[in-house]
Amino acid sequence: VPIIIAAVIVAYLIGSIPTAIWFGRVYYGIDVREHGSGNPGATNTFRVLGKKAGTIVMLIDIVKGLSATSLATLLMILNVLPEHNLVTFKLIFGVTAVLGHIFPVFLSFKGGKGVATLLGMMLSIHYEVALICVGIFLVILIFSKYVSLGSILGTLAFPTLLLFVPRFKTSEPILVIFGFCLFIVVLWTHHKNIKRIVDGEENKTYLIKPKK
Ligand code: G3P
Repeated sequence: VPIIIAAVIVAYLIGSIPTAIWFGRVYYGIDVREHGSGNPGATNTFRVLGKKAGTIVMLIDIVKGLSATSLATLLMILNVLPEHNLVTFKLIFGVTAVLGHIFPVFLSFKGGKGVATLLGMMLSIHYEVALICVGIFLVILIFSKYVSLGSILGTLAFPTLLLFVPRFKTSEPILVIFGFCLFIVVLWTHHKNIKRIVDGEENKTYLIKPKK
């Protein structure tokens, strides 16, 4: 039990790392919270600091989720966790990292929206379904121009695919339950985006440059 508690704390600290803020400050001298949407996340880093910085922050945030979730695999290899509980512990460590990203100890608990970290967690749990979610995200982004809408529906796609698509049907109902709970969390972290979409004021992102 003490090792599991220590792993939860490590997962939280990994999730808490405020990549967008530290990277922006160190390499650009800019705090992305003062620009764009004000969100300390990968999307706003793309918006404020450009493609290179955005990609690096996004990849690190994905790795945060991936590595925290993989702590479960590590503990299993070390015989600390029984194999049949692997998915449950992946969920516990992954969700803890996502919550760390949203409520980071390093930013007075005011963090990002959790999507890239969540993607890392999904990749670690079921990479095929996670990649389809990325595809759904990209299609929605290209057509709607809203990253936030893509993030919300991409998150919803994960438990939905696990529940309804025969090829991906899971024998672990807890995955589907946690998937839908995380969708609710992501809806909540995007409440301002949703209001802006409804008001027609949401930032647009053109993945494919519009023809002049
Ligand atoms: O993952 C965050 C994204 O969905 C929205 O970010 O900066 O447009 O609020 P932002």
